[in-house]
Amino acid sequence: MHFKLQPGGALKGEVRVPGDKSISHRAIMLGALAEGTSRVEGFLEGEDALATLAAFRAMGVAIEGPVAGSVTVHGVGMHGLQAPGKPLDLGNAGTGMRLLCGLLAGQAFDTELTGDASLCSRPMGRVIEPLTKMGADIRSAAGGRPPLSIRGGRQLQGIHYDLPMASAQVKSCCLLAGLYSAGRTTVTEPAPTRDHTERMLRGFGYPVESNGNEISLRGGGGLRACDIEVPADISSATFFLVGASIAPGSDLLLRHVGINPTRTGVITILQLMGADITLLNEREVGGEPVADIRVRHAPLRGIEIPVEQVPLAIDEFPAIFIAAACARGRTVLHGAGELRVKESDRIAAMAEGLDTLGVCNEVLDDGIVIDGGELGSGVIATYHDHRIAMSFAIAALRAGGEITVRDCDHVATSFPGFDELARGVGLRISTTGG
Ligand code: S3P
Repeated sequence: MHFKLQPGGALKGEVRVPGDKSISHRAIMLGALAEGTSRVEGFLEGEDALATLAAFRAMGVAIEGPVAGSVTVHGVGMHGLQAPGKPLDLGNAGTGMRLLCGLLAGQAFDTELTGDASLCSRPMGRVIEPLTKMGADIRSAAGGRPPLSIRGGRQLQGIHYDLPMASAQVKSCCLLAGLYSAGRTTVTEPAPTRDHTERMLRGFGYPVESNGNEISLRGGGGLRACDIEVPADISSATFFLVGASIAPGSDLLLRHVGINPTRTGVITILQLMGADITLLNEREVGGEPVADIRVRHAPLRGIEIPVEQVPLAIDEFPAIFIAAACARGRTVLHGAGELRVKESDRIAAMAEGLDTLGVCNEVLDDGIVIDGGELGSGVIATYHDHRIAMSFAIAALRAGGEITVRDCDHVATSFPGFDELARGVGLRISTTGG
């Protein structure tokens, strides 16, 4: 399936984008391990979260739904999972695989984890290393890539692990293994990353201590079922924040968006660039802060992106690069080497697409320099990465001609219905093929 985009237009009206991907994965995982029944509303019915749901069904957890974002998880308790009897296929989902590694390392049974071509090219050594230190036995394909074989029946030991990179997936993996470990597991972060695991564990009644950049828990406790309302995903809202910012005449309201401070780097960065973004009706829902966000067109200027904002906006950079391409002056990003190991090498994939549109840019090892200017037209390769596809779709709002974005099926991993929702508020998008 490809996107075809006619140039120009403005974004107007109201939208509620689908549920948060990170929170949806975690809701299934913790709901499955809890005692009792957890009801989840606003669940992301995207392929990534559905792959996690299917994995827990394969391990004997009864899960009803999703029906219109509602899921009911009948928890089996900390020791109630059953051997799946076949490899668990996590599709495209790095979060699903890395968090599951932690959870499965402490089970009584063996498991195999696999995924699609993109996931099978992503580094898993970053989770295998701390888990091995905890006593896990995990085999991988060459270079620490999936598929992974996890031997069960190992008694894990809590450790103190200094994360070598700012990664919420690695932190969460260690904490989830820590649930099954003897003694205390402590993780030190080099910089704050999304804290949904910590918040949700507490919501399920599990004590987690956060002390500056140290997070720790003691193994051997239990989880109590609870109800979860998943906010709209700020990472999906980002395409509209950028789209409305760059398109003259835009005025858009994004409803019920998660604004957890470990996720709002994109708002900070866009505001530094001059964006007109206002948070309205701020409230807390199920332990996560939420707001409606109004965004109106404003002229943007290039900036040096503050390095401390990088982990807080890590999934939003493809769209931020489009904002930079439409800004006056130069935008410089450093400290974002992690972008090279996402669903694609997002620095290389974005640079290639910006080249196609005639946007001057220079690739750095750990970032990029983008000189804002006019956007042309052309055919964009997505490398099967959902966020590359949606970023170039919104670029059309300021393009000089038609943009074709090739191979957009993966958009359904995080944002099913993107084209319809975006068309409804003014993006001139249609689909071909598929
Ligand atoms: C996620 C953490 C981030 C992010 C990913 C979701 C999570 O990955 O890019 O989309 O839910 O914990 P890293 O931990 O690799 O930075």
